[in-house]
Amino acid sequence: MKKLDIQKIRSDFPILSRKVNGNKLVYLDNAATTQKPNSVIDSISNFYKTSNSNVHRGVHTLSIESTENYEFAREKIAKLINSPSPETVIWTRNTSESINLVAFTWGEKNIMSGDNIVITPMEHHSNIVPWQQIAKKKNAEIRYLPMSNDGKIEFNNIGKIIDSKTKIVALTHVSNVLGTINPAKKIIDIAHDKNAVVLLDAAQSVPHMPVDVSDLDVDFLTFSLHKMMGPTGIGILYGRKQLLDEMPPYMFGGDMILEVSYEKDAKWNSLPYKFEAGTPNFADAIASGVAVDYLNQIGIDNIWQHEKLITEYAMSKMLSLKKIHILGSPDFKDRGGVISFYHEDIHPHDLGTALDQRGIAIRTGHHCAMPLVRSYDIVAAARISFYVYNTIDEVDAFLYSLEQIEGYFTK
Ligand SMILES: Cc1ncc(COP(=O)(O)O)c(C=O)c1O
Repeated sequence: MKKLDIQKIRSDFPILSRKVNGNKLVYLDNAATTQKPNSVIDSISNFYKTSNSNVHRGVHTLSIESTENYEFAREKIAKLINSPSPETVIWTRNTSESINLVAFTWGEKNIMSGDNIVITPMEHHSNIVPWQQIAKKKNAEIRYLPMSNDGKIEFNNIGKIIDSKTKIVALTHVSNVLGTINPAKKIIDIAHDKNAVVLLDAAQSVPHMPVDVSDLDVDFLTFSLHKMMGPTGIGILYGRKQLLDEMPPYMFGGDMILEVSYEKDAKWNSLPYKFEAGTPNFADAIASGVAVDYLNQIGIDNIWQHEKLITEYAMSKMLSLKKIHILGSPDFKDRGGVISFYHEDIHPHDLGTALDQRGIAIRTGHHCAMPLVRSYDIVAAARISFYVYNTIDEVDAFLYSLEQIEGYFTK
């Protein structure tokens, strides 16, 4: 592992030097969205200042430049996840849209009455609600893989859950609440043995650790650029070529057609354009490529090692706090950089507000995983989540404030 110069990395993120409520910002809400380096911010403003033009439409220089940069950014994403080709990498708005696209195109075509869809109890709403909707429409069943109290998938009876009627297994790679890293490859192999396809929600994995779609042999992979230093409003759907080829389009309009006439049905464009109707978000796609450059410059392996170090440090300290209860596994070796917890006597919202007074940004609430949080007999939890620019000093600042707030609320 390369020793990272975290202070130098931090200096690339202008927001990290701002103050909040008179205190230095300590940003520990990275699972919600990450901060952006200068190179990404500059890419967006330079694009509008110097190159703005629509893609795939013009023969003039600006349009050609725009198109090339847009497609080059797609190539960078394809390389990051080791997609066999850029044509199987589709730009969407975010992870939620990517999952909806699969549910309502692939699902619409392939899920029939009596089939089942397998998910896990630790899914984000984005990977529950679209499946519930298509299941309702198709009279299919939603099944859940069993999970232990410390947030790990249990494999004992998995053969009874993923069966010959299972059409798709859709699961999160890393839980945004529990930090659990699911054994994706093992589940993919089990699902493929039953001829089911697998969608991996990689919103919390691709930004933090190496993810290789070819090695995983996964059918669909979804993630959001705003969670990996890129802009908001842009996400990715990776799909296996044969599946994408067979799927009907999701939206209809410009760019996704090959031929249109007054009389006949239109013919669809080839991949990836079949799924990119209308003017795409090219400014942010190009900036996404710059975000990938930035990640590669640090090294995704190095990012992962750094986050593990910070998580291990924070977990080891928090596990010794008497009134703090951490959701998920206490074993920090098999966790992503997400720690959700609650205090016996302080409501998470009070804790979040008191920390904000000290400049510390954390997430509080149900984390878009209401059924999961409720399964722990709580209505809300607090969550800290890390990225490569977080430091041990920031964890200490958080722990110190936690202690102060505890003293204030419980005296
Ligand atoms: C695991 C997981 N899946 C899906 C999403 C949804 O991502 P987006 O809001 O970018 O669509 C999130 C966002 O927090 C997430 O953490």
